[in-house]
Amino acid sequence: TFLDDAEVVVSRLIIVSNRLPVSLDGDAERGFSLRQNVGGLATAIGPYHKVHRDCLWVGWSGIDLDKYDAEQIRSIREAYARRRCVPLFLAHDEVAGYYSGFSNDTLWPLFHDFSHEAVFEPSTWGMYQHVNRLFAQALEPLVHEGDTVWIQDYHLMLLPQMLRERFPRLPMGWFLHVPFPSPEIYRSLPWNRELLDGVLGADLIGFHTVDYARNFLSSVELLLHIRADDEGRIPMTTDRYATVDAFPIGIDYDLYKRTARSTLAKAMKRGIEEVSGKRPGRRYATSLTAESNAVAEAITKEGTWWSHYAHEELPELTLARSAAAEYKPNKVVVSVDRLDYTKGLPERLKAFGRMLEKYPEWTGHVTYYLLATPSRENVDTYRHLKEQVDQLVGQINGRFSLLSWTPIHYITRSLPIKPVCGIYAAGDVALVTPLRDGMNLVAKEYLACHDGRDGSLVLSDMCGAANELTEAFIVNPYDTEAMCEALHSALEISPAESRRRNIAMQARIKARTAAQWSATFLDALGQVTNEGLADRRLR
Ligand code: ADP
Ligand code: G6P
Repeated sequence: TFLDDAEVVVSRLIIVSNRLPVSLDGDAERGFSLRQNVGGLATAIGPYHKVHRDCLWVGWSGIDLDKYDAEQIRSIREAYARRRCVPLFLAHDEVAGYYSGFSNDTLWPLFHDFSHEAVFEPSTWGMYQHVNRLFAQALEPLVHEGDTVWIQDYHLMLLPQMLRERFPRLPMGWFLHVPFPSPEIYRSLPWNRELLDGVLGADLIGFHTVDYARNFLSSVELLLHIRADDEGRIPMTTDRYATVDAFPIGIDYDLYKRTARSTLAKAMKRGIEEVSGKRPGRRYATSLTAESNAVAEAITKEGTWWSHYAHEELPELTLARSAAAEYKPNKVVVSVDRLDYTKGLPERLKAFGRMLEKYPEWTGHVTYYLLATPSRENVDTYRHLKEQVDQLVGQINGRFSLLSWTPIHYITRSLPIKPVCGIYAAGDVALVTPLRDGMNLVAKEYLACHDGRDGSLVLSDMCGAANELTEAFIVNPYDTEAMCEALHSALEISPAESRRRNIAMQARIKARTAAQWSATFLDALGQVTNEGLADRRLR
């Protein structure tokens, strides 16, 4: 054939990130299996990797190397290989310094404008350099002629330049999934220049928003004294530019829309509606009315045990009154997050508590399903946050609960996509109120699960998604009173008005899916590398 003497070049995409799309479940005896990871990166790129057979994903295995013997590591590798993933194994002190330390105790807070939480520690910086080097070494034998490498996120900011030294002509992209802070904040990092030099090894450097891209360019100008041209191109060598641009990430809209209609999600939704008394005439609603009637009756009798407290307005009494008044359908509020201090969970809980206090007519009538999975538990800030959230939920439930109604259902497990979509679908209101967030996919997932339906989104103005989802109830997540009011209005909005707002936002999310995001980034990468060089041989 005509290929007989030709060199066959199979071009592949190699995705490199700290977190792989799946992580290990099970043990040596029961056998190892893999489960989907939680987090924006895995959600956004996972579907691309699944359908593109020419795509390989390299990342940290997420397990402690010290805990497994050689035979076990071999079977773990095989399980990953079946999913076209190459796991890297790190020792305990490498994980502590590079992941828990520099990535999540230095860069994460700094990039999310929590500079007061950022720890500047030379030893974790040393480990970060070391592990980025380990990634480069692991990639060296994997990268072939014709491949493209796409590096993800703040864990691997040194890797682009380390790979560039090995492969001067390798087409390479880097994307940041979190905000890039203003130069005034960024410059406080003692190793600010080293990280910029590291990232500039890539041909294309992507951010979620134009603002983050601008912050990056200003930092390069301030700290490295290199100025980009009007097209965001930073001259690196005589024949190479590093180009900076914004690529807002999306979700697989149809997947969420479809999954919300699956049998399991529908069953979950129905369960939530029954428990919260949202379905009129159900057992819970009846027992609530019976409870309030009984209390109202007791209140009217003299000399009952509670008469010491008769000067106080008992919530049961309010409920009895409102039950007698016009029927008010019960409502469900939902949220889905990793337990992360950037997500604004305590602030949100305070606003929910404030709403129950300010609008007591919601007592017994609104139930909040709070799904919050513990994350990065080896970092102190995250452990403290978990304690704070546990306490606040306890306080609110203790203060406002009735005998047969609990205001907050608090779930700290990580759930698979079907039940998550069931929770989204059950929510009359979703509270998505991060203090800072690169994009936030949860807001988009909620809207996809309400395709063609009503359902209100209360959204922080501190996340990338607020640029696109302008019809949501936009709030300042630090303003308790404003959040309380927004939640109240979101609960009261008419279904027609809610649908009208959603249609506009859904159209935008549908037009910018995760698949389009990857395609746009990779097309742009192809373009900038072709423009820069006629000869793209690897070495
Ligand atoms: P981040 O990337 O900071 O975690 P995003 O909102 O961008 O925030 O993405 C979070 C992703 O992880 C979403 O796809 C969401 O569905 C998923 N997720 C978050 N928390 C949970 C949870 N408790 N259980 C299951 N999935 C979750
Ligand atoms: C964010 C980061 C991702 C990370 C995810 C989950 O989305 O941008 O890189 O994977 O959070 O965090 P974790 O530390 O568990 O990987």
